[in-house]
Amino acid sequence: MPGQNEPETGFSSRLLERLSNAYSVVALTGAGVSAASGVPTFRGKDGLWNKFDPRELASVEAFMKNPELVWEWYNWRRQLIQKVKPNLAHYALVDLERIVPEFHLITQNVDNLHRLAGSKNVIELHGNILRNRCLACNKPFQGEIPEKGALPRCPHCGGLIRPDVVWFGEVLPVEALEKAQEVAAEAEIFLAIGTSATVEPAASLPYLAKGNGALLVEINPEETPLSSVADEVIREAADQALPRLIMALDRLRAKGM
Ligand code: OAD
Repeated sequence: MPGQNEPETGFSSRLLERLSNAYSVVALTGAGVSAASGVPTFRGKDGLWNKFDPRELASVEAFMKNPELVWEWYNWRRQLIQKVKPNLAHYALVDLERIVPEFHLITQNVDNLHRLAGSKNVIELHGNILRNRCLACNKPFQGEIPEKGALPRCPHCGGLIRPDVVWFGEVLPVEALEKAQEVAAEAEIFLAIGTSATVEPAASLPYLAKGNGALLVEINPEETPLSSVADEVIREAADQALPRLIMALDRLRAKGM
């Protein structure tokens, strides 16, 4: 019965049945998925935007005003991210990609942990903090960023090198956004995992999916604006809920259901 919990798993039979029979599933992930790896989230009590002002660190204006400060912040985050490992939530999403015929992972995270875990169909909406590109001509830059001293310049046009992430006020990479919208509109099940669902245009994707008939599922220990719209809400940390969900799906598959 829809919404009724299977006592052994804690998930509704509707969710398990729909997931095990689904052809196309999309997961949208946010900072909460990397929380168990030790990467701080942006909002909430310990969130980065509670301690730092994004306008001073994550915008083109901030970079033009003080590129050294912006690089200091990104070098700090990059070093932190390079020390951490994917967690059980990342690995469960790799498993889900193996189970579901058409699976797409849309992430707002720039930490590369989905790819490191082994996910293949990853759409990075906000870029990737491990890559750099030229502020002026956009060409990728492969060289090192020194911690101190002169900032590197683009070998093609002499422009300043910046991290390849989306900053406030910037448009998202067009190809990534279009692909995300296309797969969201076609999804039978849309999982919104570890995101506050407040930053556009990513925040609109769950509504697009639901409007096109997807079962909308939220996995988040806290309430978000999406909670009242979701068909299923799993109030748990992603690194706990997702591995259990995969186990429950495996059991169903073993029973041939
Ligand atoms: P937020 O920091 O806004 O939200 C993180 C969400 O994760 C919150 O709703 C938490 O309740 C939830 N959460 C915390 N721990 C969790 C756990 N263990 N398992 C599951 N959920 C957990 O992060 P995002 O929604 O990703 O953009 O933020 C979106 C964008 O805002 C980011 O990509 C970034 C930021 O400004 C840019 O930098 C362009």
